[in-house]
Amino acid sequence: MKYISPVSRSGRFVGGPAADVAQFTESISFDWRLWRHDILGSMAHAEMLHAIGVLKKNDMQAIVRGLDAIGKEIKAGKFKWDPALEDVHMNIEAELTRRVPAGAKLHTARSRNDQVALDIRLWLRDEINSLLGELADLQRALVLLGERNADVLIPGYTHMQRAQPVYFAHHLLAYVEMFERDCERLWDCHSRVNVCPLGSGAIAGSTLPVRRELVAKVLGFVDVRGKPQLTQNSMDAVSDRDFAVEFCAAAALLAVHFSRLAEDVILWAGAEFNFIKIADAYTTGSSLMPQKKNPDVAELARGKTGRVVGNLMALLTLLKGLPMTYNRDLQEDKERLFDTVDTVRATTRLMAAMLQNTKINRAACDRAVSDPALLATDLADYLVRKGMAFRQAHHVVGAVVALAEKSGKPLNVLSLAELQSVDKAFGRDALAVFDLKAAMAKRNVVGAPGTKEVARQLARWRKQLS
Ligand code: ARG
Repeated sequence: MKYISPVSRSGRFVGGPAADVAQFTESISFDWRLWRHDILGSMAHAEMLHAIGVLKKNDMQAIVRGLDAIGKEIKAGKFKWDPALEDVHMNIEAELTRRVPAGAKLHTARSRNDQVALDIRLWLRDEINSLLGELADLQRALVLLGERNADVLIPGYTHMQRAQPVYFAHHLLAYVEMFERDCERLWDCHSRVNVCPLGSGAIAGSTLPVRRELVAKVLGFVDVRGKPQLTQNSMDAVSDRDFAVEFCAAAALLAVHFSRLAEDVILWAGAEFNFIKIADAYTTGSSLMPQKKNPDVAELARGKTGRVVGNLMALLTLLKGLPMTYNRDLQEDKERLFDTVDTVRATTRLMAAMLQNTKINRAACDRAVSDPALLATDLADYLVRKGMAFRQAHHVVGAVVALAEKSGKPLNVLSLAELQSVDKAFGRDALAVFDLKAAMAKRNVVGAPGTKEVARQLARWRKQLS
C-alpha cells in the first residue's frame, strides 16, 4: 500500500472525520504549547532509532535538522497549525515528513500514547523548576520585608481578636515556612514526573529492540546519581496521570496559602488596620469612587484559588473509573494542568512583586501593639513565677482585666493596691511585665516571636534562600 500521510486515519478509513467530530476531538488549539518538548522527545527518539539501526545516520540527521527548523518557525510564530491534524504530535510529524521523507520512520516503536505522556512529563518538569525559582523569589520578598522592618511589632490574632504581640517579621516568616513546604511537595512530585514513559508504545511496548535507557539519558530522566528513570509497566505508563494530579494537589495547597496571605494583605491594607501601604502600581482604582485604592492583586490571588482547587477536582474526576489503558478522556488533562501551572506561576510572581512594593506603616503598627491587654498572659506567667498554679493565675488575671475594664483604665496603669485587691501575690515588680521590649526579649523558645529568635530565623532564611 502506498504511504499517504502520517495522519492516524490513513489506510483504515475511507474518509475524514465529520467536521463537528474534528472540532470536538482536536487538541491542537491548546496542546500546541507542548511543541518544544514534543520536538525534544522526537529528536531523542530519532537518535535511539539510529542507535538500533532503524534510521541511517544521514536520515537521523535530516530528521533532527528538520525538527530544529520546525521548532524555529513555531518559535517565530510562522508555523501553520492544521486542526485537521488533531494535535501537536501529528502536526509536527506531518510537516517533518513533508520536508524530510525519512520522517515517515520516526514513529517506529512509538505511539501518541507514550508520546503525549512523555511530552507532558518533560513540559511539567520544566514548569516545576521555574515555579520553584519563583517561589524562592516570593520567599525572599517576604524575608526582605521582614528584615527592613525587623523591630516592628503588631498584635498577633486568634479568632481575629488581638491575642499577643509578635514581630511583623514573625508573621511574614509564617508564610515563608508554608511556601517552603510547598517547595518540598513540588520537589517530591518532580521525582515522579521525572520518569521516562517512551518505549511503552500504545500499550504493550515494542517488538523492536528499543533502548529506553538511552532515550531517558538524552532527555535527562535520571536520578541524582545519573541512573535512568524508566516507567516499569507499559500499561501504567500510557494511562498514568498521577503525576499531574500530584502536581495539581500541591498547587491547590499552594494556592490556598496564597489566598491566606492575600487575605492578610487585604486586611492590613484597609483603613481599619492600616498596617501596610501597597505601591500604586500594585493597586487599582474604582470606576466610581475617586478615593479608592484597591488591593486587587491580592484579591485575585485569593479568587484564583477557586480554579486551582477546581482543576484538581476535574483531574481526579477525569481519572476515576477510566479502564486501562489510554482513553481519549485523557486529552482533557491538559487544559486543567496548563491552567493550574499558569495560574500559580503568575500568582507567585505577582505576589512577590506586590510585596517588594509594599511598605509597612510603623506608626499604625506601634499604636495597635501598644494595647497592654496583649500582655495579659505575661502577667499570668508572672504569677506562675511566684509559684501560683497557671489555672489560678489565669483566673486572677481575668479578674484584673475585668477590674481595669470597670474602672476604664488600661491594664498597665492599675496601681499596686488595685492589683493586690484582686490577689496578694502581686508585688511591686508586677507592672514591669507591660514593658513591651522586655516582654519580647523573654520569648526565646524555638519558633517563638522573641527578639533573638526572630532575628535568628530571619538570618537562617536569608542564608537558606541565598
Ligand atoms: N491528543 C491526544 C491527547 O492529548 C494525544 C494522544 C492521542 N492518542 C490516541 N490514541 N488518540 O491525549
